[in-house]
Amino acid sequence: MGVKIRVNVNGEAQEDDVAPRTLLVHWLRENLALTGTHIGCETTLCGACTVHVDGMAVKSCTMLAVQADGCDVRTIEGMGELDALHPVQRGFWEEHGLQCGYCTPGMIMAASALLAQNADPSEAQIRHALEGNICRCTGYQQIVNAVQHAARLAREGK
Ligand code: FES
Ligand code: FES
Repeated sequence: MGVKIRVNVNGEAQEDDVAPRTLLVHWLRENLALTGTHIGCETTLCGACTVHVDGMAVKSCTMLAVQADGCDVRTIEGMGELDALHPVQRGFWEEHGLQCGYCTPGMIMAASALLAQNADPSEAQIRHALEGNICRCTGYQQIVNAVQHAARLAREGK
């Protein structure tokens, strides 16, 4: 039997009946077709599935869709437009913070949650905030550079 949930996703009210066991990541990808949120491990290790729930970075493979009832959820699709990227998206673009890009949505959601709390994080704080997000390609230095660049852009209102 389904459970009715109401979730605000990227500014749009969504109402659905979901099986109680449905993970938030599956609901976003399969029911709402928001496939920018990726699945890497489904065991809370890789961070590819990171979204914001009420402004907090959350691994959506660790949360049931029913637990998001009444919450504001933001996914990578809600971050920016092609002609108006979010500062963190610009940071990754301009500092080459991605190669294959599989980890990138989760990295951007984790990094933007950090910058919302700390506009000028140190390298150590950035590395700490991203330690739950695994990238197989970049060696992480460009990702750290991207977040530092994004922080500068955001502080300068760009
Ligand atoms: S898919 Fe959620 S942490 Fe890896
Ligand atoms: S850019 Fe390829 S996994 Fe991170």
